[in-house]
Amino acid sequence: MHKLILVTGGTGYIGSHTVVELMNEGFDVVIIDNLSNSEKSVLDGIAKITGRRPYFEQFDLCDKERVHNFFKIYRKVGAIIHFAAYKAVGESVEKPLMYYQNNLISLMNLLQGMVDFNVHNLVFSSSCTVYGEPDELPVTEKAPIKLSTSPYGNTKQIAEEIISDTIKAHELLKAIALRYFNPIGAHPSALIGELPIGVPNNLVPFITQTASGIRDELKVFGNDYNTHDGTAIRDYINVVDLAKAHVVSVKRMLAEKTKSNFEIFNLGTGKGSSVLEIVNSFKKATGRDLNYKIVGRREGDTEAVYADTKLANEELGWKAEISLEDTLKSAWEWEKNIRNLK
Ligand code: UD1
Repeated sequence: MHKLILVTGGTGYIGSHTVVELMNEGFDVVIIDNLSNSEKSVLDGIAKITGRRPYFEQFDLCDKERVHNFFKIYRKVGAIIHFAAYKAVGESVEKPLMYYQNNLISLMNLLQGMVDFNVHNLVFSSSCTVYGEPDELPVTEKAPIKLSTSPYGNTKQIAEEIISDTIKAHELLKAIALRYFNPIGAHPSALIGELPIGVPNNLVPFITQTASGIRDELKVFGNDYNTHDGTAIRDYINVVDLAKAHVVSVKRMLAEKTKSNFEIFNLGTGKGSSVLEIVNSFKKATGRDLNYKIVGRREGDTEAVYADTKLANEELGWKAEISLEDTLKSAWEWEKNIRNLK
């Protein structure tokens, strides 16, 4: 059994937590990351937690020659987990070509490397954004793919199609696409976590930065949704739980237990929380007060999305285990650590 796993984007938020879980399970890891949205010091955090350092290669996956040379050197890659991508929804609307170029060329270079060098297993980082505003809740993997509201979301849809077509053409290739709901929280050691650059777009980083005094107040985008308290509902999943699903997926592929050459799983908790519920859970979990104000809806937001997790529960034998409160607490511990707060 090959034990070396390539993790692209391995110094990023979900990538770094996945590297830790892989190493905890005895895998060797090589990271490719261009550090466009992460820092090399993340490797120190990983080493502190696991007692080992992953191999690290800093380059851009859009550089086809570098990708080719990588596979020439690392001959024993057993599986690839592909996280490296741009992920800011708003930015993707302003710079669509940058998103299509980066997210799709890198994927195609990687797939070409897999074909040329006989690497057969790919785990792909997809998103619940492919479901848009779902017609039925909880949303299953069979729900129709909706026209994307952003180039970012579209890159995830197109990426799944590129993978699917490539796999059809090369019978030895296999892939698992994991559709994440809303990943939040940080490693319980508070040694790795999310490092948003500038003003965070996502809810939980904005909350922790407000609690630490960097932001004056949280703006709650809309309280006129058709939900129990009027605020929008999402399925918030702990990043360590999420990371573990990647390890399970890799093991499933290496053990040749997949039921088809391209499998797709939702990764969520199955439980929806409103924005105000998150605010209140955060206060309860951390004992911190939080200034917030209700403002208008954010363009492109959906009303309610949460996962049907039955397929992942049954097929992967995986389920989210960490409570929302512990997760929000971990996000706060991480925030305190990077801001040097007591
Ligand atoms: C978005 C993307 C998703 C992407 C994810 C992680 C869409 C539709 N969703 O999810 O594809 O994977 O980010 O990057 O493109 N909120 C506030 N105030 C804030 C920030 C957020 O009220 O300051 C609310 C939002 O309106 C939403 C909820 O909190 O209802 C979660 O927002 P966010 O964390 O940005 O995630 P999504 O928009 O669900």
